[in-house]
Amino acid sequence: MKILVVNGPNLNLLGKRKKEFYGQMTLEEINKLLAKKAETLQIEVEFFQSNSEGKIIDELQQKADKFDALIINPGALTHYSYALRDALESLSIPVIEVHLSNIFAREDFRRQSVTAPVCAGMIAGFGWKSYSAALDILYSLLTQPEGE
Ligand code: DQA
Repeated sequence: MKILVVNGPNLNLLGKRKKEFYGQMTLEEINKLLAKKAETLQIEVEFFQSNSEGKIIDELQQKADKFDALIINPGALTHYSYALRDALESLSIPVIEVHLSNIFAREDFRRQSVTAPVCAGMIAGFGWKSYSAALDILYSLLTQPEGE
């Protein structure tokens, strides 16, 4: 099982940026924890971060079909990028949108996600554990699609 984890604009600044919302951990630290968890589940994970909307869309178009699922934190693109939404909509693998912060408890402009409606679901508000929960859910969906 292979899962792609994509992070959007400014998430490379985790650890320095707005710690009250995003926590102390750097993206590298989060990715290390995820890689460790993935290993225990025997999932291969690959990480990609870009500050550029176009580069993220290129990555999805070129690579996503080589993976079984996608976890994406689109950063601020969440709130306005119809281009990213269209790119996500055209994927044939399950996608979970994640956010470190609870976007519904913040400024008005953050309360809308234009990308979540084309994802299988969204997890927000649990810091790095939003990603970890997404990994658990995808593992469960892919190994036991009917439940149990
Ligand atoms: C974020 C929430 C977005 O509103 C913000 O622009 C980010 C991070 C989150 O993980 O909480 O960059 O996606």
